[in-house]
Amino acid sequence: MKTGHKLLTRMCNSFYGAATTYRQIDGEFTARTYLDSAASCLMLKPAYEASLKFLDHYSNTHSDTHNSAIISNQMYKWAHAQVLQFVNADPEEYTCIFMGSGSTAAINRVARSLSAARPEKPGVLISLMEHHSNDLPHRETHDFAEHIGCVGEGVDLGSMDLDALEAALSKHHDKIDYVAVTAASNVTGVVNPIHDIAQRAHAHGALVVVDASQILAHRALSMQGIVGDGSDDIDAVVFSGHKIYAPGSPGVLVIRRSLIDGGAPMEFGGGMVDQVFKTEYTVTTKFPDREEAGTPNILGAVNLGMCLDIMTRIGMDVIEQHESEMLSYLFNEMQSIAGITIYGDTDLSLVPRTATISFNLAGVDHGLLAAILNDYFNLALRNECFCAHPYVREMILQQLWDLDPDLEEAEIESKKGMVRASFGLNNSIDDAHRLVTALKEIDTRKDWYVSQYLRSEDGGFKHLKGSIDWNTYFCPSTVLESVL
Ligand SMILES: Cc1ncc(COP(=O)(O)O)c(C=O)c1O
Repeated sequence: MKTGHKLLTRMCNSFYGAATTYRQIDGEFTARTYLDSAASCLMLKPAYEASLKFLDHYSNTHSDTHNSAIISNQMYKWAHAQVLQFVNADPEEYTCIFMGSGSTAAINRVARSLSAARPEKPGVLISLMEHHSNDLPHRETHDFAEHIGCVGEGVDLGSMDLDALEAALSKHHDKIDYVAVTAASNVTGVVNPIHDIAQRAHAHGALVVVDASQILAHRALSMQGIVGDGSDDIDAVVFSGHKIYAPGSPGVLVIRRSLIDGGAPMEFGGGMVDQVFKTEYTVTTKFPDREEAGTPNILGAVNLGMCLDIMTRIGMDVIEQHESEMLSYLFNEMQSIAGITIYGDTDLSLVPRTATISFNLAGVDHGLLAAILNDYFNLALRNECFCAHPYVREMILQQLWDLDPDLEEAEIESKKGMVRASFGLNNSIDDAHRLVTALKEIDTRKDWYVSQYLRSEDGGFKHLKGSIDWNTYFCPSTVLESVL
């Protein structure tokens, strides 16, 4: 077995929470299967353990006098360098900035910075499949925003429609600040051709801002384009450290230095100035210091750097192959269940996807299905619209109108939602098998499962036997007393 594969096998079993057990509704204690990585990944233990060793040297940054401060400074810089290397960004050309606790902070920052830097370009183009975090900040900071749909008909929506993008770019030639697009959808896992999109955007004077929140844990992403002349390079990338096995780490923005150089920093405080007098101050020209006011999340950044290092050692191609095998298995098996609708194009030869699948089972509300999967099978999945209302609405509308063209839009709105299974490094084909087995069982005895639940006032579903008492699993004072 090659080194990357060996390390992958070891890492798959090295997550905090991998052995967590919960009591199922039938009374049996079983191991939880975590299929919610698209929302937040489990913590990769070796990366966290390595970062805990750094705590022996922990100190604030912003000083180079005592030994711990020197080590902390260097480790914080190392974390930035790890990120730049991971997304293949030339450190001379790009800077990496840490902020907040996820990509939302980074997206708001890039939207504000670019709209201030390029006021002559009042518009933005946003793909239909964006998470609200990569949609609303752009709308708020620009005079106009247009959404670009996805190719394909009905529920078989694929990646961003490049013809529609081209048409919008031509219509607003030189008036578009940037195209905001996700590298992979958080709903369907559909992967977008970001370099192709960048090339088209650049030809019309627009930049491209890529939301890499859903791709970096699954596939390699390079800021450098394929063509080699820079025309399809990416201008800015954002992502959340907690979606790449480092909960508690910061949000990340990697951006061309030239785009923010000379502009006013977004936040002010310690660490981003050279001199401060009573009446004036000089902002440092150093990146990323000028963009990171205040004490940073040093431990989180170091943990993130450790995770990225481990992923590089495994090899993103090895990780992609591991997940592709699970995805192909899931598509084959789930499509054999008659009542299952999988959203987004499932032809992997046409539309690449990460191992994130959103689906519905006919006759079972998405909220109820997620509850049954949790209560009877200990499978942790998420449901509803995953903060991507326009995209989910589009797919549900198409699906329900195909079945009944007379259905009122308002009625469809009330049914809007899906169940999402999202896989990561912590999952194996056995987890995929567990999901498929559970879905087949539910499909076979649908009426019985449905009869075990009552609809609660808030629209959710309550099992007739009640729900778990979370305090029995994690009581803060008991846990604290056990370590004191
Ligand atoms: C594609 C995508 N972009 C942005 C976000 C927002 O990330 P965060 O909540 O970490 O800021 C998410 C979260 O699910 C996401 O999936």
